[in-house]
Amino acid sequence: MPWRVGPSARRAGERPDPYRVWLSEVMLQQTTVAAVRDKFLRFTALWPDVAALAEAEDSAVMAEWAGLGYYARARNLVKCARVVAEGHGGRFPDSREALLALPGIGPYTAAAIAAIAFDRPETVVDGNVERVVSRLFAVRTPLPAAKPELTLLAARLTPANRPGDHAQAMMDLGATICTPGAPACGICPLVGPCAARAAGIAAELPAKVAKRPKPVRYGYAYVARRDDGALLLERRPPRGLLGGMLGWPGSDWGTDPSEAPPLAADWRAVSEEVRHTFTHFHLRLALRVAEVPRGAAARRGEFVDNADFSPASLPTLMRKVWTLAEPALAAR
Ligand code: ADE
Repeated sequence: MPWRVGPSARRAGERPDPYRVWLSEVMLQQTTVAAVRDKFLRFTALWPDVAALAEAEDSAVMAEWAGLGYYARARNLVKCARVVAEGHGGRFPDSREALLALPGIGPYTAAAIAAIAFDRPETVVDGNVERVVSRLFAVRTPLPAAKPELTLLAARLTPANRPGDHAQAMMDLGATICTPGAPACGICPLVGPCAARAAGIAAELPAKVAKRPKPVRYGYAYVARRDDGALLLERRPPRGLLGGMLGWPGSDWGTDPSEAPPLAADWRAVSEEVRHTFTHFHLRLALRVAEVPRGAAARRGEFVDNADFSPASLPTLMRKVWTLAEPALAAR
């Protein structure tokens, strides 16, 4: 993991860079290490420190964040960088309390940065740690009600010495050995004291209350291409789902949406629909594509020159739309 300082560098006196710890922890929320790695390398190449990120254009950061999801994180990232650059002399504060006051930094991230970057004895509890602790102490209370109890138990394990390494070791244990389905108890360093293992219930923990099934919502998306190749895109409002991200104009999403074309054109239906799953619902979008003349005036959005259009800077949903729309346009 490129944000980590290895043992030999550590012995040579190198300390984790709070900027890199912060950036990696924000990226790792709800996102896997595999998905974060390359994004982290790109971000740190473009913006090597908090001062550089503070000066970035919002739209450039949103474009680089595309694909990671939970776009409020990217909006808060720039805000936080600006507060640290302007209000804290470019240095991250070194306590959990002061970190908590920064935009986009909640209890988890504050504890993680304080522990990992500043060796503060803070307890870091993510989903991996909840699983490890629920098994170690055989906590049968289902999540999410069990959270306070698991946090207290995790705090009892937090050492005064190397709390940052301890926090990351707990997360790594949960990610690689104490895994959800079939934990590898045979190679687990905590197999001895593990109460769930002794009771033969490790794989059943943590208990969780049954989730409600996600509802399905429907909508329309419109891809208009001008005869010079420019594409009609629209930046979404700053708040809400995909807030601040670029996308294709579309209808509202609901059980029975109405068509909402962004301009008058000879819209053609694409036979395949786009499917995407968000945290709280599944979405199915019907696609419409149209070729429009140079002078076409759009009610919404703006035509973006073909040379300035990069599918990689779109959120995953909008990239899926393009993947189906592009061949439908070319088919003409
Ligand atoms: N998940 C989130 N942050 C992590 C970290 N620092 N180490 C391992 N897994 C993580």
